[in-house]
Amino acid sequence: MRKAVGGGLIGLGVVGTGVVRVLAERADFFTRQVGVPIIVRRAVVRDPSKPRLAPIDPELVTDDAAALLTDPEVDVVVEVMGGEEPAHQYIRRALEAGKHVVTANKELIAKHGPELLALARERGRYLLFEASVGGGIPLIAPLRRDLLANRITSVRAIINGTTNYILTRMAQEGADYADALAEAQRLGYAEPDPTNDVEGYDAAYKLAVLATLAFRSRLAPEQIRTEGITRLSARDFLYAAELGYVIKLVAVAERRDHGLLARVAPVLLHRDEPLAKVDGVYNAVQIVGDLTGMVLFEGRGAGAEPTSSAVIADLLEIADAVVHGIPNRTAWSLEEQLPVLGPDQIESRYYIRVTVSDRPGVLARLAKCLGDNDVSIAAVNQKEANEDQQTAELVIMTHRARESAVLRALAEIAELPVVAEVSTFLRVEE
Ligand code: NAP
Ligand code: HSE
Repeated sequence: MRKAVGGGLIGLGVVGTGVVRVLAERADFFTRQVGVPIIVRRAVVRDPSKPRLAPIDPELVTDDAAALLTDPEVDVVVEVMGGEEPAHQYIRRALEAGKHVVTANKELIAKHGPELLALARERGRYLLFEASVGGGIPLIAPLRRDLLANRITSVRAIINGTTNYILTRMAQEGADYADALAEAQRLGYAEPDPTNDVEGYDAAYKLAVLATLAFRSRLAPEQIRTEGITRLSARDFLYAAELGYVIKLVAVAERRDHGLLARVAPVLLHRDEPLAKVDGVYNAVQIVGDLTGMVLFEGRGAGAEPTSSAVIADLLEIADAVVHGIPNRTAWSLEEQLPVLGPDQIESRYYIRVTVSDRPGVLARLAKCLGDNDVSIAAVNQKEANEDQQTAELVIMTHRARESAVLRALAEIAELPVVAEVSTFLRVEE
């Protein structure tokens, strides 16, 4: 009769510390649920000399990953260090050594998930990754199980807490971008390298994970057209609000007749849309299934506590299986590969902000470029003029148009001598 389930952590940062703390604080409850205690045998870090906030015996903190991966007392490896390598190799080695794996690493699952899941299945081991998307929001388990009877037609999500926190503070308080980012980092929301958050890569990794599960067809992160939030200006938030919209970084994957469309970008959302009301570090994911209709998942998408909730849920599922000898039930298989469609298939309304010379006839020249490309204008507003530079800002809302046509028109507009800059171009997500 087994006396304990052994866990080994790789990473003892924001998430790892949260996991160790909750395992310690709720040890009795978890022991009652599983039948035996879950014991942290080792924790691998980059620098073992760093002071740690986690309630863990310092003797167990090491930089020796090989010792953890070959330790017969470690049943489950919990990878919470992040990044592609060496995390990928560590997880392969753990599965090959017959260990179960829990990971919070969306980059790894987005890039290597199908291959690692095949290895886990071959070895009869679990590879669970609930914490990789949406922090504490249950998303992976519902897609693995509860929504399986559906033909899913779309996934639309706010899935990066850092950018949603920054955009919310910029919209509601007029906060400076750099200050809002620094605060998100201080609160432990940001990735070790925040470029991944603000350039949209983190959201693209998460969309790749969700869409691959939802459509049972591999969607790789590089197939997702990805734009970040760094080029947005405070004025865009103001003008969007005047028009009845908010600006959010939204990840979308849709099933069309001939394949999948996938993108991550800041977009205008009408203020009455459910996703428009998701603020701060909150994430929300709307999934449309043919049987369920739209289902909405919402909650805290980053931070030590919500993320440790998801990691420990996976750990408890595995511990229960280890103790009761339940075989791996996590295997899922891909269906026929759906082609990923190009951006020329996207059709939407668009918000365009252009800085132009403030003189007669300019608007007519812009309107001609749009009209020549079959893009119809719904509304135009002339905003603040800069008297010194004799420039003005034009905010244009188009009717529904093909994105390729709008991009062609904008390329022509940018070449006009009366145009200083095409400053912003955002889809209206409907
Ligand atoms: P973090 O605070 O930067 O912690 C990373 C940990 O990994 C640190 O303990 C670090 O050691 C260790 N580490 C880094 N490189 C290593 C290496 N080569 N060998 C051994 N140890 C190494 O990161 P985090 O925010 O906890 O994120 C961890 C993972 O969870 C990432 O995959 C992230 O995407 C994911 N995640 C994070 C959140 C969140 O809100 N933070 C939410 C969901 C998912 P030192 O302590 O010695 O530097
Ligand atoms: N950096 C990520 C975010 C952490 O801000 O959403 C959660 O995956």
